[in-house]
Amino acid sequence: MKTYLVTGGAGFIGSNFVIYMLNKYNDVKIINVDSLTYAGNLENLTSVENNPNYSFVQADIRDHDAIRKIFDENEIDYVVNFAAESHVDRSISDPEIFVKTNVLGTVNLLNIAKAAWQIGDDRYKEGVKFHQVSTDEVYGSLGETGFFTETTPLSPHSPYSSSKAAADMFVQAYHDTYKLPINITRCSNNYGPYQFPEKLIPLIMNNTLLHKDLPVYGDGMQVRDWLYVDDHCKAIDMVIRDGKVGEVYNVGGHNERPNIFIVKTIIEYIKENVDSEVGEHMIKHVADRKGHDRRYGIDPQKIKDDLGWYPETTFEVGIKKTLKWYLDNKEWFNNVTSGAYQKYYEKMYKDK
Ligand code: NAD
Ligand code: TYD
Repeated sequence: MKTYLVTGGAGFIGSNFVIYMLNKYNDVKIINVDSLTYAGNLENLTSVENNPNYSFVQADIRDHDAIRKIFDENEIDYVVNFAAESHVDRSISDPEIFVKTNVLGTVNLLNIAKAAWQIGDDRYKEGVKFHQVSTDEVYGSLGETGFFTETTPLSPHSPYSSSKAAADMFVQAYHDTYKLPINITRCSNNYGPYQFPEKLIPLIMNNTLLHKDLPVYGDGMQVRDWLYVDDHCKAIDMVIRDGKVGEVYNVGGHNERPNIFIVKTIIEYIKENVDSEVGEHMIKHVADRKGHDRRYGIDPQKIKDDLGWYPETTFEVGIKKTLKWYLDNKEWFNNVTSGAYQKYYEKMYKDK
């Protein structure tokens, strides 16, 4: 039985990872540690909450004593660090919390992991690893051609991506300096169930259903490389088990699409399946995001060659699955878009 301390497991990707692992394996124990910010939602985890191999601890990754207690009471084999402030637009209006959670929180986890596992020489236990979940945004922006590889220099632009790049460098430094066994995965834009509707796909879906304007930043020709969340979970699982210690792996499925294409796909789906009155007239080109990265595109050759990973879900299949999930789970949508979300939406979009 291996024990995973998963941070941020009540967020979008973290909760999908917890569910993926508990459905796939009977011999893994998951301790989910999440402070439950606006983005953390225990409702995501109702399908696993009674699983005997699952437990939840509400704690902040910056809280030394709370995290230390978990290490004292359990033999942790892997830390998988999803916990983060994750939204670029929020980082532009309030960068500080991104430094606190994404950088200081990660360093706190690294310090506790290092102390618990007595790193400093070669005594660490076999299989013990710190897995940092990172993003392709640390590489900056691409022109019309080329892809990010693991050797592309870090060149983050937004406060969000800068904080993630700083965290990655600390994770790498704890390997280089103290021999802490680590991996870093850098993936492209995820989509799938449980994504908070501040991100493009669930936001456009929600607005279309509500007959609200569909805000497209600038010309909408910015390109993102979309990855179905289960393919990401599979990659993390493979890297934790078989990845070479100390290495970075990029995860992406060559599913590059301009934003405007995504918006039109969502409109078309809802028009066909739910509401014939929606249409492209709802699209509203609004002020562009400050410092907006033009294009992301990942070269996943290393994880394919070294670990045999490949994405199982094409964009065409994944987007339909995702939109159907949101339609089948309207209550989830209603719960997360009430209250605080309304205030956020009004504040962020009122001047656009
Ligand atoms: P999310 O915002 O949906 O979830 C983040 C989770 O972290 C929430 O449950 C929140 O409560 C928790 N959290 C925040 N601050 C915390 C703290 N101080 N202590 C404990 N828990 C805290 O994010 P997501 O989209 O699921 O992203 C997960 C990870 O993957 C992040 O590290 C993000 O940078 C990375 N990532 C995301 C994407 C994407 O497309 N969503 C792409 C690449 C990388
Ligand atoms: P987002 O989902 O915020 O992810 P990221 O910024 O991490 O890539 O945004 C995806 C793309 O969609 C990005 O180019 C910004 C754009 N976008 C809009 O055009 N309108 C919106 O309302 C949002 C939230 C994003």
